[in-house]
Amino acid sequence: MKHIILDTDPGVDDALAFVLTFNSPELKVEAVTTVAGNVNHEKGHRNAKKLLEFLGKTDVPICAGAVNPMLRKMSHAEEFHGKTGLGDTELPEPKMQTDPRSAVQMILEKADELGKNLTLVAVGPLTNIAAAILSDPALPEKVKELVIMGGAFNLTPYGHGNANAVAEFNIWHDPEAARIVFNSGIPMVCAGLDTTTYPEYRMSTEMFNEIKSKNTARSNLVVDLCGSLVKRFNGFSLHDPQAVAYVIDPTIFTTEKYKVDLEVHGEITRGMTVVERRSYRRNPNEENHEIIIKVDAERFLKLIMDRVVGE
Ligand code: RIB
Ligand code: CA
Repeated sequence: MKHIILDTDPGVDDALAFVLTFNSPELKVEAVTTVAGNVNHEKGHRNAKKLLEFLGKTDVPICAGAVNPMLRKMSHAEEFHGKTGLGDTELPEPKMQTDPRSAVQMILEKADELGKNLTLVAVGPLTNIAAAILSDPALPEKVKELVIMGGAFNLTPYGHGNANAVAEFNIWHDPEAARIVFNSGIPMVCAGLDTTTYPEYRMSTEMFNEIKSKNTARSNLVVDLCGSLVKRFNGFSLHDPQAVAYVIDPTIFTTEKYKVDLEVHGEITRGMTVVERRSYRRNPNEENHEIIIKVDAERFLKLIMDRVVGE
């Protein structure tokens, strides 16, 4: 059993990551913490509650987090996730209450309580994680690891950016937060665009049509979440589910360790995750960033079908 905190900016693919998370007996969700990203924090927090209620998980504490990036002005990705942030879904307005503890308070409390039994899973901008590290500089040594969906590492032909030519959205949205996190020494595993947009690891149109044919509550949620994006992009990139799948079963993935730093001053390179690959400059003691470079597509997509879609 892995104890996790899911830090999220729901978000269509975040929603799939929710369903995967809560249908995986290997994971115990200690809390959900929300952060501004795909949509503003109010919408994202409400979406997280809608998803917890849809999944019957209203016993899981949900904590409010950052409403803005650390320094940059707020931006969003509604052109992909829709005005609500959950595509074409029409989930009922949530009734569950927000936990009185902030996202940072919850992260620090659970880190003290669970220590190396706690895995942080961040599938949105890293603002909450950075704030927690600034609040308790010992956090990186306390927890087991931080698994993120984030970065574009140029380690596969698909490792370029999406928010700009070289940066992935979660990192681009709050590059200063990302720089704090990547330089904190926390053990990190990164599901970057290198593999989340890799064709063989995506939800294909054929896979989507198979899901649509099931006509169950969960399959119809997937259809409402992803349908318009599948049409626009000839399939759907399973960004956030890939990070959660790593926590569930790391053997599905191949990783390489590097030292990664962040570009925060660039005009056209804002949010670039810069990988040190010069052999004469590499130092294994500094390489605490594990980057996913390969995925067992069959096992990953089977996990999605079994746990996100179901029968
Ligand atoms: O670049 C993809 C990431 O940005 C995903 O986490 C998606 O939900 C958005 O937050
Ligand atoms: Ca996300």
